[in-house]
Amino acid sequence: MSHAAPVSRSFSASGPLRGRVRVPGDKSISHRSLMFSALAVGESRISGLLEGEDVLATAAAMRAMGADVARGDDGIWTVHGVGVGGLLQPRTALDMGNSGTSTRLLMGLVASHPITVTFTGDASLSARPMNRVIDPLSRTGAAFTASPGGRLPLMVRGLCPAVPIEYRLPVASAQVKSAILLAGLNTPGITRVIEPVPTRDHSERMLVGFGAKLDVETESDGTRIISLHGEAEFRPQVIDVPGDPSSAGFLIVAALIVPGSDVVVENVGLNPTRAGLIEILRAMGGDITLLDERIVGGEPVADVAVRHSSLTGIEVPPEIAPSMIDEFPILFIAAACAQGQTVTRGLDELRVKESDRISVMAEGLAAIGVIATETPDGLIIQGSGGDPLPGGGTIASRLDHRIAMSFVIAGLVSKSALTIDDIAPIATSFPDFFSLVEILQNRVVQTP
Ligand code: S3P
Repeated sequence: MSHAAPVSRSFSASGPLRGRVRVPGDKSISHRSLMFSALAVGESRISGLLEGEDVLATAAAMRAMGADVARGDDGIWTVHGVGVGGLLQPRTALDMGNSGTSTRLLMGLVASHPITVTFTGDASLSARPMNRVIDPLSRTGAAFTASPGGRLPLMVRGLCPAVPIEYRLPVASAQVKSAILLAGLNTPGITRVIEPVPTRDHSERMLVGFGAKLDVETESDGTRIISLHGEAEFRPQVIDVPGDPSSAGFLIVAALIVPGSDVVVENVGLNPTRAGLIEILRAMGGDITLLDERIVGGEPVADVAVRHSSLTGIEVPPEIAPSMIDEFPILFIAAACAQGQTVTRGLDELRVKESDRISVMAEGLAAIGVIATETPDGLIIQGSGGDPLPGGGTIASRLDHRIAMSFVIAGLVSKSALTIDDIAPIATSFPDFFSLVEILQNRVVQTP
């Protein structure tokens, strides 16, 4: 699963982006679709699954633990699951590649099964903190042997029956919340997660869809108390995965900053726990309209129409961060093109993503002549006022797909070509990224 040799490429100023493109399936929902289908007895069918490396790592892991997972020629995936409690001991270590979501959610699932699983990953994933899931899952009775600092490679020895826990999340993390809930599926009694700051709620929505009994109470200060009744029985489902708002974000910002652009990004998931970027870009003056709002796979979806706009710098309220946590790298590029200063703070979680996205973005922006000041928990960016960015430098993408895609988009408005040292990580979440950008540049003839 680790990447082949790095692929370096240069990007330079683009003509207007025009046309309609459809973004691939949501990564978070794709992972959960495979995992939950693998826990249902019978056949689930999934359309619109994201076929990026991260999700393929989840598919391989579910196969290794006994599920039958296959892709049909029509692009529909079928999963014959083993039932909650039925995961089998994999024969070898599970290689999670670059994927934190696969790793942390599967650590939760394994914790309440009588199996022992070793997780490995690439250099980026092996540097990411796992104690945030090891700590709560240890309280359920699972045993962990991790590399120093609570890192991968690590081994989980599950316990069955596990002990139901009540856990207050110390960090706003949907991965930690989900890991605990997934451990609770094969645990007697009620597993409870207290979430002071709401994060993406795909697990809650989908667990109910598969037949789990799950209640959510919201307190007056917004704290959510999520109670999952264990020993669930899952029914197989037919799932239509909505498009990924995080992938759409790159194209939306591209259309806002490349002069003359007029684009529709189709099928964008707009779950309120994910839609912060659109709110902030509109507050910066972005011309963004939602068309044909509808429900797909139980999630709000729309086509997003975007026109080139003069953006104005903004102070981003830290409370909005969880609903756009993956979108800050591309927001920083929008900010670099805006009039005036953009201030972000409260972004400590960005330091433990596929890379330290605060310092890697600060370094990359400096390399292309943008003035950006790194603070302990954010960036302050001076915008160009709509003028092209200087460009010219080389960006280290550090095995981080979102860093690479953000600077590809920056390249489209740069005076001198910029170079990205490795664009290969883009395949982890958005394998069609370049073909969609080329369609919007009208460099590709679309087949009907
Ligand atoms: C995800 C949760 C977020 C996000 C990641 C996907 C998920 O991570 O950054 O890309 O699918 O639950 P955290 O929970 O660590 O914030």
